[in-house]
Amino acid sequence: MSILIRGGTVVTAEAEYRADVLIEGETIAAVGPDLQAPQGARVIDATGKYIIPGGIDPHTHFELPFMGTVASEDFFTGTSAAAAGGTTMCIDFVIPSPQQSMMEAYKNWMGWAEKAACDYSFHVAVTWWDDSVKQDMHTLATEHGVNSFKHFMAYKNAIMCDDETLVNSFKTAKELGALCTIHAENGELVHVLQQEIFEKGITGPEGHPLSRPPEVEGEAANRAIRIAEVLGVPVYLVHTSCIDALESVTRARLEGQRVYAEVLAQHLVIDDSVYRNTDWDTAAHYVMSPPFRAKEHQAALWKGLQAGMIQTTATDHCCFCSDQKRAGQDDFRKIPNGTAGVEDRMGVLWHHGVRSGKLTPSEFVAATSSNAAKIFNIFPKKGALMAGSDADVVIWDPEKTRTISVDTHHQNIDFNIYEGMEITGNADVTISRGLVVWENDTLSTVRGRGQYVNRDCNAEFWSSQRKRNQAAEPTKVERT
Ligand code: URP
Ligand code: ZN
Ligand code: ZN
Repeated sequence: MSILIRGGTVVTAEAEYRADVLIEGETIAAVGPDLQAPQGARVIDATGKYIIPGGIDPHTHFELPFMGTVASEDFFTGTSAAAAGGTTMCIDFVIPSPQQSMMEAYKNWMGWAEKAACDYSFHVAVTWWDDSVKQDMHTLATEHGVNSFKHFMAYKNAIMCDDETLVNSFKTAKELGALCTIHAENGELVHVLQQEIFEKGITGPEGHPLSRPPEVEGEAANRAIRIAEVLGVPVYLVHTSCIDALESVTRARLEGQRVYAEVLAQHLVIDDSVYRNTDWDTAAHYVMSPPFRAKEHQAALWKGLQAGMIQTTATDHCCFCSDQKRAGQDDFRKIPNGTAGVEDRMGVLWHHGVRSGKLTPSEFVAATSSNAAKIFNIFPKKGALMAGSDADVVIWDPEKTRTISVDTHHQNIDFNIYEGMEITGNADVTISRGLVVWENDTLSTVRGRGQYVNRDCNAEFWSSQRKRNQAAEPTKVERT
């Protein structure tokens, strides 16, 4: 099946220009002016609209088993909701339980993901350490297309990894040419603060942000960055939420260290007042880690994105319905952590970023798609509109208005953290590897059509990351 998208403005991370896009089967065949429609091709008129690469959400958790429950969104519903919002690829996380074999966990997640409607890939978390973990990192990197490993510095007594594990894993990632990704929060401090706050009688959702202040994130971010600096490995901070962490990223980048940072759409537009809502359920809906922050952090995150200190935007899409959140009714520490938004990321970013003048359309494409594709080494298969790229293409209507609501969203969750937010700029048509999956506000995704995307390691590129004092190679002093 061929599709010719005619009359629109192509926007890539590099440029914005008038061109048509021809899709043949699952790939882009040509991008250029006045392309001819092959016999039998479907022609879609994109006049007045942008043609952009499908969004890549580099941080989702579909059907994640976590905090005694399982995230309600599965790989089919999640990738479908993503498509409704213009996202055509998600990078999810395999998270082995402590002592569980990495390969076993990877196989479990691969099985769950078979129902995905759009393409996906996996970061794999290092949650404990021994020689088998090191061996499995090698196997995953060399045989299964995994080029990124995740490290949770929080969630003590569950999936938290200590400094010893961090160091071992970072060294192994360096050998492989894989990228280390980090959830930066000091888990020991969170644990102590949680107890102190609970013992003061603060048991509701307002206790959650109090137990995870910005300093806790800043300390962990800086520690991870410094460990990476000493070992000479690049790092990628997920869900950077505060000035404290951003300052560490900025300092390191200005010193030439290869540090990447991701921000969640929700951290850019929602502040910590949500935890003071007097309705327990509503406040609990926003319990995620790191928590929503005071407004000054949002302003700094926007600037970080504008300045290129933050390269990617994600959602950390991790759905827990109201009844699941109620597990923590008497104790905020037991509220499952996570918020949704895979469907809304691009619209929220366009409305609050592009329409407000903070981002150009090209910067929007970079932040929602191309930068993730480059960092995770799948560019230009993904994140690009080039002949030969996968035909993950979105016709973006900059004037299409929508009021975000649980009543109309496609996510498998019974509330929406953006409820009532009016946004202008939305996906009009979404094409996933050559198949139209969203059109006329209707989804037509196909269960199981999504493919696993292999991501190769890049040892040569990563090894160009210098250790801080590389000029001064350790030298032995000869003594008589
Ligand atoms: O609260 C969150 N973010 N839940 C999902 C797990 C994680 O930390 O990314
Ligand atoms: Zn996290
Ligand atoms: Zn996450």
